Amino acid sequence: DYSENFGRINGILMYKLFLKYWNNVEKFEARPDDLVVVTYPKSGTTWVSEILDLIYKEGDVEKCRKDAIFNRVPFLECNNEINMNGVKQLEDMNSPRIVKTHLPADLLPASFWDNNCKIIYLMRNAKDVAVSYYYFFKIVTIHPDPGSFPEFVEKFMEGEVPYGSWYNHTQTWWEKRKNPRVLILFYEDLKMDIRKEVIKIAQFLGKKLSEDLLDTIIKHTSFQEMKNNPSTNYTLVPSEIMNQEIVPFLRKGDIGDWKNHFTVALNEKFDVHYEQQMKGSTLKLRTEI
Ligand code: A3P
Repeated sequence: DYSENFGRINGILMYKLFLKYWNNVEKFEARPDDLVVVTYPKSGTTWVSEILDLIYKEGDVEKCRKDAIFNRVPFLECNNEINMNGVKQLEDMNSPRIVKTHLPADLLPASFWDNNCKIIYLMRNAKDVAVSYYYFFKIVTIHPDPGSFPEFVEKFMEGEVPYGSWYNHTQTWWEKRKNPRVLILFYEDLKMDIRKEVIKIAQFLGKKLSEDLLDTIIKHTSFQEMKNNPSTNYTLVPSEIMNQEIVPFLRKGDIGDWKNHFTVALNEKFDVHYEQQMKGSTLKLRTEI
């Protein structure tokens, strides 16, 4: 039951807390040197954010450790009335800023487009996103009980989850791929060849990384390192908001965990629906690895 803590923006399910000051999000004043990191939730946002912050801080791991990722890379539309208010955090921040958002392309504040900001969109295959989102519902207390996994997958397929339809989100951002200010990345590519992807990101930012710096970034942003690092594993979020005793935020970090969650029947149903939703799009994600 979403009625208590959720409302809608453009028909998309959204946290009521975030909607409270939506005006400030819409009117957000971007700066030309802002870098925007966009994802559908659970696609590896934290991972790519840490990589970007390390590139910006030239591999100064200690500097990154000093503050939580949600302070170093503020979450634009977030407002939890406790420790996170993205707009305020960003306003108070020196340039160059890295801005995290989960907004679909048509809801991104106009100022980012007007200022020609660079944008990185990271996506992850739908089935693993659904699994990760299911556990996220369980640990982030603002969500209603997701029910059984098949019940949650129904909601996911209907787009009745915060930020709406994964199928729309990914396809509308994919449409932006020819814009040279937009870089599209895939979680699966990061998993399979992190070095190649970090070099690609650096090139997009107009930076050349030394081999040493590359090694540092790759080591510091491995799943195990990030899981054990309080500044990246979200343990600094109060447990009333996020209860990681149920399952850690950095849960598994794998490709294909969906195979442990989907029955054959559910998988077939999902595939049929997926084909319908993605029909006519050139976007192809790898799930079978
Ligand atoms: P799982 O739940 O499948 O483990 P987001 O940051 O967008 O909320 O995404 C969270 C997902 O990214 C989680 O997926 C998390 O484990 C995974 N993740 C975070 N850091 C990672 C890393 N360094 N390597 C691989 N996966 C990572």
